[in-house]
Amino acid sequence: MNIGIIGAGNIGATAAALFIKVGHKVTISNSRGPDTLRELVANLGPDAHAASPEEAARSGDIVMEAIPFGRYASLPAADIAGKILISASNYYPQRDGQIDLGGLTQSEFIAQHVPGARLVKAFNTIYWVELRDQPDPTRPLEQRRVIFIAGDDAEAKDTVSDLITAIGFAPLDIGSLRESHRQEPGSPIYNRTLTIAEARALL
Ligand SMILES: NC(=O)c1ccc[n+]([C@@H]2O[C@H](COP(=O)([O-])OP(=O)(O)OC[C@H]3O[C@@H](n4cnc5c(N)ncnc54)[C@H](OP(=O)(O)O)[C@@H]3O)[C@@H](O)[C@H]2O)c1
Repeated sequence: MNIGIIGAGNIGATAAALFIKVGHKVTISNSRGPDTLRELVANLGPDAHAASPEEAARSGDIVMEAIPFGRYASLPAADIAGKILISASNYYPQRDGQIDLGGLTQSEFIAQHVPGARLVKAFNTIYWVELRDQPDPTRPLEQRRVIFIAGDDAEAKDTVSDLITAIGFAPLDIGSLRESHRQEPGSPIYNRTLTIAEARALL
């Protein structure tokens, strides 16, 4: 697959390396333009390309957004429409400013601004250093660290689950976008190293 990544920081760049390692190509982008990503792309190797967010979205069989939540309005909605969108961002008012979510979960809020996206909330509960260091595809699923997913599109969740499994984590579906508050900052499972069994006990 080609995976388009919007946001080339801690999470975007770390995920890019993991996706490449299992045979995918990535097109990665940031807000300042592809020229600022030369060093990152050189380090990621020949399966990585830098582009604009719009190009990254268009080129992706799957798109991942890993930008500060407060920048949600800049996501290239028209280019993402119809595609699976992995949403890794978290809302932190201290960083992102006051945003009225209108009673929506964070993933529902993003989905509202990217109409037509097949949104799967994932990769938002794991610290980037642990995302880099903890994958282990050689372990059985029940011994791996969990990565939580939520979404309203079962097929999209299956695809993202397969990706999570391939890179060496254990996907755990916690439900719909409405239910995705269960994996937001402050929830009992947030930023914890857990197996599937440990996570189920906490949920
Ligand atoms: N850090 C973690 O361990 C972690 C874990 C899980 C989830 N998250 C969430 O994931 C998101 C990213 O976190 P991070 O730590 O990776 O942040 P980061 O290191 O600060 O990187 C943010 C990236 O997003 C890019 N960006 C900012 N605004 C953009 C826009 N409008 N369009 C395209 N790209 C844009 C930045 O590019 P420029 O520098 O060019 O602006 C940068 O490459 C946040 O919402 C965070 O809460 C973080």
